[in-house]
Amino acid sequence: MSDARGNRAGRVAGKVAVVTGAASGLGAASARLLTEEGATVVIADVNANAGRRLADSTGQGCVFIEHDVTQETSWSSLLNQVRERFGKLNILVNNAGIVTPGDAESTEVADYQRIMAVSMDGVFLGCKYGIPLMKNSGPSSIVNMSSIAALVGESVVAAYCAAKGAVRAYTKAVAVHCSRSGYEIRCNSIHPSGIDTPMVRGFAEAIGDAGPTSGPSADGPAPISSRLGEPRDIAYAVLYLASDESKFTNGAELVIDNTITVTAGVVP
Ligand SMILES: NC(=O)c1ccc[n+]([C@@H]2O[C@H](COP(=O)([O-])OP(=O)(O)OC[C@H]3O[C@@H](n4cnc5c(N)ncnc54)[C@H](O)[C@@H]3O)[C@@H](O)[C@H]2O)c1
Repeated sequence: MSDARGNRAGRVAGKVAVVTGAASGLGAASARLLTEEGATVVIADVNANAGRRLADSTGQGCVFIEHDVTQETSWSSLLNQVRERFGKLNILVNNAGIVTPGDAESTEVADYQRIMAVSMDGVFLGCKYGIPLMKNSGPSSIVNMSSIAALVGESVVAAYCAAKGAVRAYTKAVAVHCSRSGYEIRCNSIHPSGIDTPMVRGFAEAIGDAGPTSGPSADGPAPISSRLGEPRDIAYAVLYLASDESKFTNGAELVIDNTITVTAGVVP
């Protein structure tokens, strides 16, 4: 996109964005890319040190606000600050999420509740508090970070599957609500497979996987490392859904997994 003088304007120029869980991994990559493409970006995360560092290194157009997605008061405070400082909100990336290993029998109740609180309650609260500001902000977009765990049974992360499946369904309910209400707000979900982030590295360690630094194994299942994408692979999808380029895409689920969910059996 170019202005009248032929200067390149960013794909989300002039928009105001909030990205939750943006101090690390997919959120950080998305915050950087949205800033590069002209948005004013709020990095919202519980990790204040990492969030401030990222905002400082990203430079103009990027600020950090400490935020816990599980707390209703934190959402009202965050969005009041956004309204006061920037006057509007066009892009909300509900990205914060956590995972801990556990199947249907071994998952502790506390782990299940924590995973649901961050990964699903956070999305619910984000939409509940974000929509009232976004509906008066011009063309706007909510992007919810789900997972392929919403689409297939990943037995070692049972609670995570439940949370991400809920995010997938909730996204469609929000999209229909906004459309029927006549709001200029779209809502879509993204479903990545394994991407090389601190979350995945930590998870690989927790389950004793060979981890992201070693190559595929000749005997037995390939380690997580051989199946990983890069954070920018997902950030570009966030950018597309956040921009007006996707103005007719609403209630959709964008699977980014390099064939994992469409392959019958083991990927050769
Ligand atoms: N990395 C993957 O392979 C992958 C695949 C599918 C989906 N996802 C999803 O993408 C999202 C980002 O994952 P990631 O791999 O970048 O993880 P990550 O651990 O690198 O980053 C997650 C960020 O969320 C923040 N966070 C945690 N709890 C929070 C809370 N209560 N409030 C606000 N911020 C909080 C953390 O501080 C961290 O900065 C998650 O929702 C995850 O489930 C990741």
